[in-house]
Amino acid sequence: MSSGKFLRLGVLGSGKGSNMVALAEACAARQIPAQIAVVLADVPDAGILKHACDRGLTAEYLPPGKFRTKLDEDAERAYVARLQSAQVDLVVLAGFMRVLKGDFLRAFPGRIVNIHPSLLPAFPGLEAWKQALDCGVKVTGCTVHFVDAGVDSGPIIAQETVPVLADDTPATLHERIQVVERRLYPQVVGALAEGRISTRGRMVVWAGTSRG
Ligand code: GRF
Repeated sequence: MSSGKFLRLGVLGSGKGSNMVALAEACAARQIPAQIAVVLADVPDAGILKHACDRGLTAEYLPPGKFRTKLDEDAERAYVARLQSAQVDLVVLAGFMRVLKGDFLRAFPGRIVNIHPSLLPAFPGLEAWKQALDCGVKVTGCTVHFVDAGVDSGPIIAQETVPVLADDTPATLHERIQVVERRLYPQVVGALAEGRISTRGRMVVWAGTSRG
C-alpha cells in the first residue's frame, strides 16, 4: 500500500473517537507515515467530530440516509465521493456503527480496515465486551481486520489479548480493551503505510516481524 509518501486516511466514526485521537497523535508525532485527510461521522454530535476539529482536521457529518444499520444508496455515494475527493488511500473505521456494502467496498478494494473489541471470530457485532462477560470467557481482546461484506468477518490483520477480571463490569472491560486498541490501531495503520502487510487469501502476513 505504501508509495513512499504519507498514506492518506479517511476515518469514519459514530462515537466518542478515542481511536481517531490515537491515530491523529501517532500521525502528528510522525510515528507513522500517514495523515488524516478527512474524518466523517454519521452522527451529527459525535465526539469524533469535535476531537477532529480540536486538532484542526477536516471533519464532516454526512447523513446516513433512511436505514439504521447501513448507509442508503445516496449516502453511500456521498461517503465514497467525499473520501475520493479527499484522495484517501485507506478507509479506517473507528467505531462506525454501520455495515459497508457493495459500491463502497468496490470503491476501496482491500483498503478498508476496522477495529473490533473482541478476539474475532468470537463475539462479532454489538457490545462485544458484554458478550464476552456474559459468555464467561477468561480472555478477550481486540482485532484489526480488513473489511468485507459481512459483520466483522474480514481477514484478520492483528489481535491482542486482554484478560477478563472477576470484578469486571461491561464498562471496565471495555475501557481496558480500548487502552489496547489505541496502541494497536496506529501500529497496524503504520505497518500498512510502510507496505509491511500483505495478504494470501484470508491469511494476512506481516513482513519483518513475528506477527502472522
Ligand atoms: C471501539 O471499541 C471499537 O473497537 C469499536 O467501537 C469503539 C469505538 O470507540 N468498533 P472510539 O469511538 O474510537 O472511542
